[in-house]
Amino acid sequence: MNASEAPALTDAELKLLQALIYQECGMHFDERRTSFLQDRLLRRLKECGLDSFYGYYRLLISQQGKQELAQLLENLTVNETSFFRNKAQLDLFQSDVLEDLLQRKQERRDYSLRIWSAGCSTGQEPYTLAMLVADGLAYYYLRNPLPCPSVLPKPLVPQPWRLEILASDISYSVLRTAQEGSYGEHQMSAVDYGFRLRYFDKVGARYVIKKSVKELVHFDFHNLKTEYLPQRNDVIFCRNVMMYFDEAEQKRLVEKFYRCLNPHGYLFVGHAESLLGLTSKFQMVHRNAGTAYQRVEVTV
Ligand SMILES: C[S@@+](CC[C@H](N)C(=O)[O-])C[C@H]1O[C@@H](n2cnc3c(N)ncnc32)[C@H](O)[C@@H]1O
Repeated sequence: MNASEAPALTDAELKLLQALIYQECGMHFDERRTSFLQDRLLRRLKECGLDSFYGYYRLLISQQGKQELAQLLENLTVNETSFFRNKAQLDLFQSDVLEDLLQRKQERRDYSLRIWSAGCSTGQEPYTLAMLVADGLAYYYLRNPLPCPSVLPKPLVPQPWRLEILASDISYSVLRTAQEGSYGEHQMSAVDYGFRLRYFDKVGARYVIKKSVKELVHFDFHNLKTEYLPQRNDVIFCRNVMMYFDEAEQKRLVEKFYRCLNPHGYLFVGHAESLLGLTSKFQMVHRNAGTAYQRVEVTV
């Protein structure tokens, strides 16, 4: 099939496909993003050797079409990300949120920290969080004595703390790249030399996340549209994901995040996103230019 033979996408076919995509992953394609959607649909249709969008739709909803559906969703995601994205927000995380969590948990002798990067793309966000928490813990124990004798060589996470960073995405290909943890110079512009030296190995021209950092991050597939999402998190980062959902889906997701957080837990959303008008179950925490949302606890 050459370009001139490309089948036309009728309004009815477009609506069917939009509804299916929305139902499967929550992504909403308004008029501004319709041409992107059309382009990706056409590519997949050609790849499958089909000659009508209705035929492609029938494939997607069939039992044999499950793999193609996953492939289509991968092709529709926007995976833009970077290390240390939104510095003001990360400063708020490290200096206020982490400090609050460490203090409250230490009082209860609960030494576990669980952070979830939901929609982690190629891994820069969860690895940034691992580096910030490792530094934050070290700094915390410069000021507060450790409850256990320190061991040498010093581990990244001092005993008795356990840090678990779960990083999830709907795209298997970005998860594979994230797991490799290998980045080119052009992806490292926001990583200063202190971080490069401590947390990366230089392999040829590439920067590879050190094993000790990788061990803190666990990558997994999770579709945020589903009900069964990782529970008992102290902090959730879900940045630049909700912006592709419509308001109804955003409300459902924020409700799920509320349930996925421990009491007083924190949610971070992207710079262009907000919980305003979506929920009254979170209160905004704002410092300098950084914003987070803390779970509000209902007292009975
Ligand atoms: C723009 S990237 C954001 C990456 C990172 N959070 C950041 O802010 O730099 C959005 C990511 O969300 C993922 N995503 C989109 N819809 C999703 C869904 N329903 N479930 C899980 N991940 C999803 C995409 O695959 C993509 O990797």
